[in-house]
Amino acid sequence: MTKYQDIQQQLKTRQHRWLITGVAGFIGSNLLETLLKLNQNVVGLDNFSAGHQHNLDQVRELVGEAAWRNFKFIKGDIRNLQDCQLACEGVDYVLHHAALGSVPRSIEDPILSNESNVTGFVNMLVAARDHKTKRFVYAASSSTYGDHPGLPKVESVIGKPLSPYAVTKYVNELYADVFNRCYGIDSIGLRYFNVFGPRQDPNGAYAAVIPQWVAALIKNQTLYINGDGETTRDFCFVDNIVQANLLSALTEDKAALNEIYNVALNDSTSLNQLYKMMSDLLKDDFSHISEHKPVYQDFRAGDVRHSQADISKAQNLLGFAPTHTVDQGLGEAMAWYKKNLQSTS
Ligand SMILES: NC(=O)c1ccc[n+]([C@@H]2O[C@H](COP(=O)([O-])OP(=O)(O)OC[C@H]3O[C@@H](n4cnc5c(N)ncnc54)[C@H](O)[C@@H]3O)[C@@H](O)[C@H]2O)c1
Repeated sequence: MTKYQDIQQQLKTRQHRWLITGVAGFIGSNLLETLLKLNQNVVGLDNFSAGHQHNLDQVRELVGEAAWRNFKFIKGDIRNLQDCQLACEGVDYVLHHAALGSVPRSIEDPILSNESNVTGFVNMLVAARDHKTKRFVYAASSSTYGDHPGLPKVESVIGKPLSPYAVTKYVNELYADVFNRCYGIDSIGLRYFNVFGPRQDPNGAYAAVIPQWVAALIKNQTLYINGDGETTRDFCFVDNIVQANLLSALTEDKAALNEIYNVALNDSTSLNQLYKMMSDLLKDDFSHISEHKPVYQDFRAGDVRHSQADISKAQNLLGFAPTHTVDQGLGEAMAWYKKNLQSTS
């Protein structure tokens, strides 16, 4: 039995109270689905700046009414300390995911990103401290590796940040560390690499590559690849991210606490490979895809050429054992997009 299976068994018989911030977003709503299916009590906080009511509606449909009654939603903003205090009442474990994602958005409006990602983060730490929550698990980011060329990325070796977003995510790690030193808050930061899966938003100027491409493929629209397509990423299916969160919240190993972990697969997929995998998965359902060709455009400023995670720290200290390869994850994600994107075409 893996550590994760063990934890899932334990949770089925013991109910805790969890707070998921950013619950109406992509990763937050996947955390919600898993926790409610495990009979947990969940409070969710979101201001709908990037998340959607339809993500919550979908989780409700998937978990059923009995489990849904264990969920309390607070429409609120982490930039407001009172909202954070209210959300933390009676909470055992915080899974902090509310933030404004996207490197380009942070370059366009660094003040806005800073407000949610830094001020909001400190508000959440203060609220978690005041309510004596047991653990504060938060979404950090691979953007913290910045301009360091080393591969695979090891947690202790980082470069200079390449965007305001990267600064905010690194500052989160510094604040979590200082809150442990000053107030004894136990936290774990998870540096996600490129996450994908059901409910990742395909719309808007700041959409991530996989949902953007799947929408373009299904709707037969122009699909742009930045650069020559040989840029690589360590794409990670969202179920692996959910696993890392639950392991982090419930680990009893003191050596695992107040640490930062890479969460990905230690795998490398080029954009050209990704395009091929996605087209192959969709071509039987959409005949136009056999004629579809991507359009190559300039490299995007600030993008690193290669990114791949060393995940041995999470494997050794948390018992992290990814359940989904990129292929398996893409299969599940495409099934969801096929069902959910066609109605909006
Ligand atoms: N998706 C990835 O590949 C990736 C990679 C690295 C890190 N992360 C981090 O993981 C977390 C979740 O990302 P996601 O991909 O699910 O993004 P998302 O945009 O789908 O979800 C973020 C949620 O936070 C909410 N939010 C934003 N600002 C808020 C505020 N001030 N108050 C309350 N709610 C607010 C949004 O409405 C949204 O529902 C973020 O912290 C992000 O920086 C994601």
